[in-house]
Amino acid sequence: MDDRVDERVRQAYDERAEEYAAALGSMAAVHPSDRARVESWAAACDGLLVDAGCGPGHWTAHLAGLGHRVVGLDVVPRFVDIARRSAPDVSFRVATLEATGLGAGSAGGVLSWYSLVHHDPEAVPDALAEFRRVTADGGGLLVGAFSGAALEPFDHAVTAAWRWPTDRLAAVIDEAGFAVVDVEERADAGVRPHLAISAVRVR
Ligand SMILES: C[S@@+](CC[C@H](N)C(=O)[O-])C[C@H]1O[C@@H](n2cnc3c(N)ncnc32)[C@H](O)[C@@H]1O
Repeated sequence: MDDRVDERVRQAYDERAEEYAAALGSMAAVHPSDRARVESWAAACDGLLVDAGCGPGHWTAHLAGLGHRVVGLDVVPRFVDIARRSAPDVSFRVATLEATGLGAGSAGGVLSWYSLVHHDPEAVPDALAEFRRVTADGGGLLVGAFSGAALEPFDHAVTAAWRWPTDRLAAVIDEAGFAVVDVEERADAGVRPHLAISAVRVR
């Protein structure tokens, strides 16, 4: 196993993969505005989409159903099994965000939907470096995460997660070699505040 992967995260999701899939692993559980955002982001990308940290694979399958060429990857084999069972015609692989196994410049876009939320802040650049490596020049990156006024960890149902001030995460994405093109913040009653950052790979 890649020693840059947090074993605590891998194990926590492994133990709760079925539970997570039942609660959150469908497009019915997705906020309508997230669905619209991911769909329009994907439509603007050219080439292979990578659902990085795909969990049970609902985004991957959804994007495939819209006609995109897409691969879902996750560090938790149990998630990949669940994803393959529910979408047998879609491509999934066990891999890490830090070492995707994909070729340099092979992707038109990387979707990192809540897959960096458990990374300690100092570990985020390694994953972003890999996203940059696999993304073609001008390709897209879309990150969804928890937002907050301060960069701080909090207790999450699976394992500790981080909330990010949007401008701080945008700065880290920018430093990794992407130009931020759009940010969204959403705070709905009863759910944790959300952010989405869309960026494109620059030379
Ligand atoms: C909060 S879940 C999000 C899953 C899915 N993207 C979604 O929107 O429901 C975080 C996912 O990231 C995966 N993950 C976390 N760290 C990872 C790493 N270093 N490499 C690959 N996958 C990772 C976890 O296994 C889990 O499936």
